[in-house]
Amino acid sequence: MDFDRIEQIGLRPFELLLDREKISGRIGELGRRITSDYNNQTPVLIGVLKGCIVFLADLMRHIQLPMELEFVSAASYRKGSTPTEEIVIGGGVPIPLEGRHVLLVEGVVDSGRTVTTIIDKVQKMKPASVEIVTLIDKPTCHRTEVSVKYKGFSLGNDFVIGFGLDNTQKYRNLPFVGRLIEP
Ligand code: IMP
Ligand code: MG
Repeated sequence: MDFDRIEQIGLRPFELLLDREKISGRIGELGRRITSDYNNQTPVLIGVLKGCIVFLADLMRHIQLPMELEFVSAASYRKGSTPTEEIVIGGGVPIPLEGRHVLLVEGVVDSGRTVTTIIDKVQKMKPASVEIVTLIDKPTCHRTEVSVKYKGFSLGNDFVIGFGLDNTQKYRNLPFVGRLIEP
């Protein structure tokens, strides 16, 4: 997606927060760290759809290890006017994880409820270890005890789009991370 086309095609203006060079440099660093931390292992990366996909596609090409790839999907819904969202995990994890080293790969950790809900399910399968990898962490938004071992960037509480992250399913294809400007 070309930078200049964004407004022409009716997408809302945004403020650039992380450009593609900055993101790609950081993903390279994360990949090298994971490669060294999981030396002699065959980790299972589990991508949390859909927000993980751009980040995960780049990250896995920086992991110089044998690895496996699986996906789960997660969606959160607000029931009526209740303040908390219900997290619905789709698909389930299709392979046995007993004794495996699991890396759960997210696009953004906000309240932390999505990743903790998935981790609770994964833990029941008795993996050797489980860690979270996320492109963006929003530590001030956490509403649950969540420890993110591998993070690309920490941001504040802005809602961000691009690089896989959406606003009403759009903007995932932008090759950078931005913040939508309110009209
Ligand atoms: P959590 O369960 O509150 O941590 O939220 C995780 C999910 O909310 C993510 O997987 C996203 O789908 C969505 N989300 C939270 N913050 C953002 C954001 O800033 N941009 C886009 N999606 C977000
Ligand atoms: Mg979303």
